[in-house]
Amino acid sequence: MPEVGSPILELQGITKSFGGVEALRGVDFALHAGEIHGLVGENGAGKSTLMKIIAGVHTDFSGRFLIDGAETHFRSARDAHAAGIAMVHQELSVAPDLTVAENVFLGNQPTNALGLVQWRRMAREAGEQLARFGIDVDPMSRLGDLPIGLQQLIEIARVLFSGARIVILDEPTSALSPPEVERLFATLRRLREEGAAIVFIS
Ligand SMILES: Nc1ncnc2c1ncn2[C@@H]1O[C@H](COP(=O)(O)OP(=O)(O)O)[C@@H](O)[C@H]1O
Ligand SMILES: [Mg+2]
Repeated sequence: MPEVGSPILELQGITKSFGGVEALRGVDFALHAGEIHGLVGENGAGKSTLMKIIAGVHTDFSGRFLIDGAETHFRSARDAHAAGIAMVHQELSVAPDLTVAENVFLGNQPTNALGLVQWRRMAREAGEQLARFGIDVDPMSRLGDLPIGLQQLIEIARVLFSGARIVILDEPTSALSPPEVERLFATLRRLREEGAAIVFIS
């Protein structure tokens, strides 16, 4: 990958322990805009832990964390979101009892001036987003009724189209068929062309 300019995200000397277990020791990591950064390593190497630090899930660690060259310390995943960072977790984290549309807009539902959820708009926009990703599904169907691969794709689509400039995917292809994986890769390349930086753990 070309590395032009300074990194948008940089971690220096990151150490993280869980109780007595050291998951990361002195790890350095840099990410540039327009880059798809692959992260490979054996089980338990600390890949998910490192990415959860970036996504504001783990806030208790030592080392330096810089965004656009400025030192930062997220206190929550909400802080990471506000900084334009979104993550697809290794464990599927959808809400099976909610509709497809509600899942696409989880925590981010369009409301009118009175604060009421705009259901029709939400369904239409969710359908459009999923269609962009090649997913043809009724936005009002219950997510938990769909095949697991489709649920995973919908979760990925939600994160990819959340407008984040740094997108982290933690082993996202486990439940996907080969054509679905190909569709995911094509979408990642498109996002990269739009200037996003992507971390892909496999
Ligand atoms: N929430 C946690 N509590 C305790 N130990 C954890 C937790 N998350 C990860 N670990 C430990 O940290 C190490 C790294 O795990 P992880 O980051 O999940 O590795 P990877 O994603 O590379 O497989 C492992 O030894 C794992 O057991
Ligand atoms: Mg992992």
